[in-house]
Amino acid sequence: MTLSTIDDLGDLRGRRVLVRSDLNVPLDGATITDDGRIRASVPTIRALTDKGARVVVTAHLGRPKGEPESRYSLAPVAARLGELLGQPVAFATDTVGESARSTVDGLADGQVALLENVRFDSRETSKDDAERGAFADELAAFADAFVSDGFGAVHRKHASVYDVAKRLPHAAGGLVLDEVEVLRKLTEAPDRPYAVVLGGAKVSDKLGVIDNLLAKADLLLIGGGMVFTFLAAQGYEIGKSLLEADQIETVKGYLTQAGDRIVLPTDVVAATAVSADAEHAVVPVDAIPKDRMGVDIGPESARLFAEKLADAHTVFWNGPMGVSEIPAFAEGTRAVAEALTKIDGLSVVGGGDSAAAVRALGFAEDAFGHISTGGGASLEYLEGKTLPGLAVLED
Ligand code: 3PG
Repeated sequence: MTLSTIDDLGDLRGRRVLVRSDLNVPLDGATITDDGRIRASVPTIRALTDKGARVVVTAHLGRPKGEPESRYSLAPVAARLGELLGQPVAFATDTVGESARSTVDGLADGQVALLENVRFDSRETSKDDAERGAFADELAAFADAFVSDGFGAVHRKHASVYDVAKRLPHAAGGLVLDEVEVLRKLTEAPDRPYAVVLGGAKVSDKLGVIDNLLAKADLLLIGGGMVFTFLAAQGYEIGKSLLEADQIETVKGYLTQAGDRIVLPTDVVAATAVSADAEHAVVPVDAIPKDRMGVDIGPESARLFAEKLADAHTVFWNGPMGVSEIPAFAEGTRAVAEALTKIDGLSVVGGGDSAAAVRALGFAEDAFGHISTGGGASLEYLEGKTLPGLAVLED
């Protein structure tokens, strides 16, 4: 797959460039709690302003139901983007309406505008090609060229990701190029041993990637909420831990297929509730009390995981090992992050949650080989799926 770059778009001075970024950041009210994705989007926007382009950024935030909802407004993101760029970002209070039109018209060379949440228009995510196309026509009317830089959304066949690329000269932004390069290394020729660490709540979200990685990875270490379905499949009593009973047979199949290539925790932190003040204790996996739920891997498992990772030359990690927002349940995630910083080779932190977790735990970003901005997107890439937002850039 060869993707064209911003340089291939030619002289951009005075031209309007629509940039699809992934600015889907966690918010607490109007406070951005992790601005990683905004920072990751800055280099491409800056590269365009340096070329004298008039930059129109479009992005989504959360999953609004196709109409404006103030809690999903990109206004706080516009302010933060402006701070990071070191120049004001004009914010359009609608997506393709009057405010968007006048904001775009008001741009001078080298200036930046951000359009309001693209998912405030139901056509963005419509399954109907004509509906999405009509919306893409309106977005495309704002620009002379399109740059796809929202890696975290390239697995979505959405108007601002997919259909606009069909309507404008287009290129991949630097973030998309970097992400694809790393994921290609993981899928094409990983240095071995290649270990994958998977966590997060649901095993059902990870079935595709497990299927694919079982054939490719030398080791699969599993933690997070999803591990309790694995433990249940092994016959353990898991108390009130998360369980996807309908996945037990599938998981048994994985365990049979992979043998000792799948590594599970030997102990867990079991708590009375998912809250900071809940009673909790470390217990072996064969002694999880009936009235408690697993909220982290235990210290013995953290050591085991770190030992297994120490020999790996390639590691991909997606999903926290426990409820890492609560400090008492973050130690497993911290241990895995720590182990990744010591890898002699390529370490990749994939996914919004794991990326936010390592930053919240105070790890420096450059301690890892790569921190992906894409959760679902990187998993789907590793599953071997065609990502519509990448495939369309090849045309
Ligand atoms: C993400 O958070 O993974 C991306 O921004 C995509 O968001 P979505 O899953 O709501 O499409």
